[in-house]
Amino acid sequence: MTDTANTPEASHAAEGASGSPPAPTRPASPKYVPPTAPYWLARTASRLRAFLLRLASRLMPPQLTLFDLATGGIVARMLQQVVRLEIPDRLDRTSLTAAELAQQTGVRSDELHRMLRACVSAGVFRLDAAGRFSNNYLSRALRTGAVGSFRDPVDYFTSPEVDEVWGSLPGTLLTGEGGYEQRFGCSVWDWYAANPGAETRFARAMMSMSALDARGIGASTPFRRLKRLGDVGGGAGLVLSEILRQHPKLEGVLFDAEGVLEVARELLAARGVAGRVDLQAGSFFERVPTGCDGLFLKNILHDWDDEAVLKILGNCRAGLPLGGTLLLVEMLHDTNTANRVASLSDVHMMMATTRGRERSSEELRLLLERQGFALKKVHPLPGFQSLLEAVAVPPQGQA
Ligand SMILES: C[S@@+](CC[C@H](N)C(=O)[O-])C[C@H]1O[C@@H](n2cnc3c(N)ncnc32)[C@H](O)[C@@H]1O
Repeated sequence: MTDTANTPEASHAAEGASGSPPAPTRPASPKYVPPTAPYWLARTASRLRAFLLRLASRLMPPQLTLFDLATGGIVARMLQQVVRLEIPDRLDRTSLTAAELAQQTGVRSDELHRMLRACVSAGVFRLDAAGRFSNNYLSRALRTGAVGSFRDPVDYFTSPEVDEVWGSLPGTLLTGEGGYEQRFGCSVWDWYAANPGAETRFARAMMSMSALDARGIGASTPFRRLKRLGDVGGGAGLVLSEILRQHPKLEGVLFDAEGVLEVARELLAARGVAGRVDLQAGSFFERVPTGCDGLFLKNILHDWDDEAVLKILGNCRAGLPLGGTLLLVEMLHDTNTANRVASLSDVHMMMATTRGRERSSEELRLLLERQGFALKKVHPLPGFQSLLEAVAVPPQGQA
């Protein structure tokens, strides 16, 4: 395992220390801000956007579209600075010039103006004729303190370790080995255990991304008949908190690494469900919570190869009674279709996990069957993911 002092996390911390002055601190009790548009509309708009982009790129010289694609990393870097300098918070309900923002943040005015103007060209912020920047629909979603804000995912996707991991792409293409193993000599989760600041950053990012689906998951029917639900690898507990709020008689167990549960304590208390959640630190390769009639795993199986998935499912089967419910949330993806969100998530799994991947419902069904589960139903979720409902059956050969 790597020495923390020599990790990207250490250089990230140093960047903060020598960079901008302290920005507004994030509130202790983050508010949950659900997405604003109805999900069906968001899904339709997403398909329409993909269609219009394909149409536009067919009508434009290919070089212009390829310029956009090849410079995507530049936009990501600018967004990283935007959130680190907390520009969207500083522009909350006001408009400011780059000079005023530069005074608040301690950076140079001309360079800041040019960077923010380029952000405007990418659709983030507004710029008026007097040179004043203000928030728009996208930049408002980058403010701190609101769960569901995309500030933390930007911070994660542009973090030094993710940069390094993606730098290992040529090696992954040659050997199949993920970026953490190549760069740091250990799995992502072992690396996080040794780098608590980065672990917290990831847990917060995951919580924000899960906010997109939390309400739709909570409203799904399988939770209605459960009494005690174990959220295995439940992260900071946002989704579990939403399920519990929608099902007031349900009790929960949140199961994850100790460092992640630290983030969860604050959130569960803020959401008023702390008294109904038993926090358990542990590894799902050794055990899962017992005494539950349902187990829930959201975006866990996609982190692992088939062998590890079988081990996790085997432990889930051992922890559930016959007839118990297993609920999986995954971003289903067929091998020969190219859905933008799912295929990007899939390659991120390829780089940032231990040979993880997005799978199709058929692939998951076969893995479930090998460990004593029958896939009953696939519930489409309002966002980009699906909920797979399985039931614990006698192991194969014992029916
Ligand atoms: C992709 S995140 C998903 C978090 C949460 N389920 C969600 O969707 O927001 C994967 C989670 O698995 C946890 N994890 C990884 N390895 C684990 C292990 N061996 N035992 C328990 N949790 C683990 C991580 O700490 C992380 O919270």
